[in-house]
Amino acid sequence: MTYQTIQVETNGKVGVIRLNRPQALNALNSELAGEVGEAIAAFEADAGIGCIVLTGSEKAFAAGADIKEMAGKDYMDAFFGNFAADWNAAARARKPVIAAVAGFALGGGCELAMQCDMIIAADNAKFGQPEIKLGIIPGIGGTQRLTRAIGKAKAMDMILTGRMMDATEAERSGLVARVVPLADLMNEAMKTANTIASMSLPSVMLAKEAVNRAFETTLAEGVLFESRVFHSLFATADQKEGMTAFVEKRAAKFENK
Ligand code: CAA
Repeated sequence: MTYQTIQVETNGKVGVIRLNRPQALNALNSELAGEVGEAIAAFEADAGIGCIVLTGSEKAFAAGADIKEMAGKDYMDAFFGNFAADWNAAARARKPVIAAVAGFALGGGCELAMQCDMIIAADNAKFGQPEIKLGIIPGIGGTQRLTRAIGKAKAMDMILTGRMMDATEAERSGLVARVVPLADLMNEAMKTANTIASMSLPSVMLAKEAVNRAFETTLAEGVLFESRVFHSLFATADQKEGMTAFVEKRAAKFENK
């Protein structure tokens, strides 16, 4: 598959998607959003892939939705075209997706990173929802995911002022899982992705689904869901292998079944 706005490669069990519109700091336009969706779908369908890494350049993960593409739209274009409503392939993925973020992750770029299951940030990363400065608001989940990630006080601060948050503040606030020096970003993301991909894929996918339930339901329902999923994993060969390997003091060899 040839793409115009992203680069895609497979590294062992990890699928890597690199946003690649350097002339626009990887701003998200319809073409790029569509290609990210196709690349994620291809990795989802590839039984050899256990984790996906989504990244950008050293200067920008993505500087938001493409303002030049949006500028001429009126309400009817946005409403009837359901503008950007389906730019959520990362959030819909069933396999884990890690965002490896360097540089700007603004507007739709921050929202895209937050659609992923975890964010690993370089020390030069800057997060923000500056839409308010354009006379709009976040449009691909920012008001909801940022608030869940960092709480109302900081989300209001970011979304109403449009200010940026550096990597240290983002880690302190719970937006990112880890901050590493820029030079180590891809190594750290790939190491983490390989660790995840070495686990039993059914348990990884179900663990991710269970964690995400925490955002969708009550505590009692979420714990019940976890319990049902936990029990179901005792039906897998990988559970037998994982526990036998522990008892036999050897590394588990999971077969994703
Ligand atoms: N859309 C389109 N083009 C963009 C862009 C965007 N979001 N962000 C940057 N670019 C373009 C610039 O227009 C510029 O292109 P030209 O060279 O052709 O002029 C190029 O990328 C480089 O950008 P700058 O010269 O501005 O680079 P800088 O280092 O001086 O500043 C920046 C970097 C602070 C990120 C600045 O580019 C900026 O503020 N960008 C816009 C950020 C923004 O407002 N994002 C939110 C968009 S709205 C949104 O995302 C809605 C939603 O929720 C779906």
